[in-house]
Amino acid sequence: KNQLPSDLHIRPLASTDYHRGYLSILSVLTTTPDPGEAAWVAQFNAMKQAPRTYYPLVIVSKSSDRVVAVGTLFIERKFVHNNGSVGHIEDIAVDANQQGKKLGLRVIQALTYISEISGCYKTILNCSDKNVPFYEKCGFQKKENEMAKYA
Ligand code: ACO
Repeated sequence: KNQLPSDLHIRPLASTDYHRGYLSILSVLTTTPDPGEAAWVAQFNAMKQAPRTYYPLVIVSKSSDRVVAVGTLFIERKFVHNNGSVGHIEDIAVDANQQGKKLGLRVIQALTYISEISGCYKTILNCSDKNVPFYEKCGFQKKENEMAKYA
């Protein structure tokens, strides 16, 4: 039930994924200019240097060696809930040609699993109204409001 098609595998983001089209998958979400490989790898390393905080995942096609889906879990440490942690699901995107094949669901399941085994008391995310049915299918429920202030 939880298996991916045999051509696909899910794994942590690697520093070489810059060359597998990682940014082009993300660019469906928002403005994602290419900072160049050195700056991309520097950001990758900065995330890695914060231990047990950033969990970027990718689904990669073995035959094409391209990234087809992405998503990240960010773990926030808190003082409430007995020094609890909250898992934030961020930047979920599936290649336009691969949508509707449960890849988004698989990414969400994997990130939620990491959140739960890391001891997070909840896993949360922000999304557009359009994506509410998708996240409900993934087992999430609507709660409160998102507020934003852009710089
Ligand atoms: N409306 C209703 N149901 C939906 C929708 C929708 N818009 N999208 C997916 N579903 C349902 C599917 O039909 C499926 O239901 P089923 O199990 O009954 O068949 C279930 O949700 C799982 O769908 P997947 O096939 O896993 O969805 P997909 O792989 O296409 O991924 C995603 C969904 C991530 C929204 C994808 O379409 C995408 O990349 N969209 C563009 C980028 C985007 O909006 N990303 C999310 C931003 S929010 C954030 O990042 C926290």
